[in-house]
Amino acid sequence: MNYARFLTAVSAARKPSAIRMLTELQLRSPPSLISLAGGAPNPNTFPFQSCSIQVKNGDTLMFDETMMKRALQYSASSGIPELLSWMKTLQKDLHNPPTANYTAENGQMDMCVTTGSQEGLSKVFEMLVNPGDNVLIDAPTYSGTLAALQPLGCNLVSVPSDQYGMIPKGLKEVLSRWDPADVHKPHSTIPRVLYTIPNGGNPTGASMTAQRKWEVYELARQYDLLIIEDDPYYFLQFDKPWAPTFLSMDVDGRIIRTDSFSKILSSGLRIGFVTGPKPLVDRVVLHIQASTMHTSTFTQVDEPLLLTLKSLLSFRVIEFYRTQRDAMLSSADKWLKDVAEWHSPAAGMFLWMKLKGITDSQQLIMEKALEKEVGQFYDSESVQVFRLSLCLCVERETYGGWGGEL
Ligand SMILES: Cc1ncc(COP(=O)(O)O)c(C=O)c1O
Repeated sequence: MNYARFLTAVSAARKPSAIRMLTELQLRSPPSLISLAGGAPNPNTFPFQSCSIQVKNGDTLMFDETMMKRALQYSASSGIPELLSWMKTLQKDLHNPPTANYTAENGQMDMCVTTGSQEGLSKVFEMLVNPGDNVLIDAPTYSGTLAALQPLGCNLVSVPSDQYGMIPKGLKEVLSRWDPADVHKPHSTIPRVLYTIPNGGNPTGASMTAQRKWEVYELARQYDLLIIEDDPYYFLQFDKPWAPTFLSMDVDGRIIRTDSFSKILSSGLRIGFVTGPKPLVDRVVLHIQASTMHTSTFTQVDEPLLLTLKSLLSFRVIEFYRTQRDAMLSSADKWLKDVAEWHSPAAGMFLWMKLKGITDSQQLIMEKALEKEVGQFYDSESVQVFRLSLCLCVERETYGGWGGEL
């Protein structure tokens, strides 16, 4: 693929930061090296000496003095090597991406650590989206994505979706405005980027089937689109078998995937990952070099954290959210059947409701729900629908129910 054709002028102009290259060279050097070159502070001056964290399973995560010095120091912009290589292995095991063994220029799978997937997304958008570009998105979609895309001055082209996510037929219809033969013409307005949330969509709770993904991927091939697969709810899929990811189908190197540990480990630690063709991941890393420099070393450096992650990936979190979903569905069945409709989300944290025959739903939501101390999220342009989060509902159930009069 010709990745250069996808880059914005700003992204194409990025050059490696000299100071970051020096730091990374230093990090690869033996500890005996006394460097007079870089500006990394002497860690002996830092006031923190050691740290221990109690894990709920009884383990204790220890940062001894050496580990602490490393945790408090600058680190590589793409992420610390141990976490990155652990994550690359995991990504290959989970998705078996066809690109894993491609050459770099042909889009070999690469990864970098980001400060939550939101950082990855916003940097990917800034790398790919010019003012006036047409960008394909699910309708409706995650408000954080809209917040990152809107200031870029692009046209958001909504593709219809339902409980199984983006509808390929709808995408085909949207794309039929353009002729695929024009894709590589200099002033073509054909979209170059498609953004989708394949599992437990935010706000809709929708999850895409394998068939739909294949059809969307085929259209992406026809129109030479990059697909941004934003998948923070991947590890919160309630039912097996899990549909293959876009990354696992990616014979061309046209998928950029964002993953997040926010929903299974901690949202405050801010750990996310970008996975995609090396020429594009490299551009994201150049942007990180020039902005945050790297995700907090402290949150990345903890080796026992990896062990905790492994046990987390044993899917206890899924069971928790499955129970939450079932509790909310049974409450909804009990209280809301006559006034709303919904589908059972197959993944994620959200139940998307459509109100039936209620004209002043804004008043219902903003006043009556709040009177009952029930918060939810709704899209102000479409007050017939609203999103309920599964995260805390059972706790409320135990002290009085959450929707008696809604
Ligand atoms: C669809 C989607 N993408 C990205 C994010 C950002 O997550 P993170 O905490 O990893 O930045 C969220 C957060 O809720 C989300 O729902």
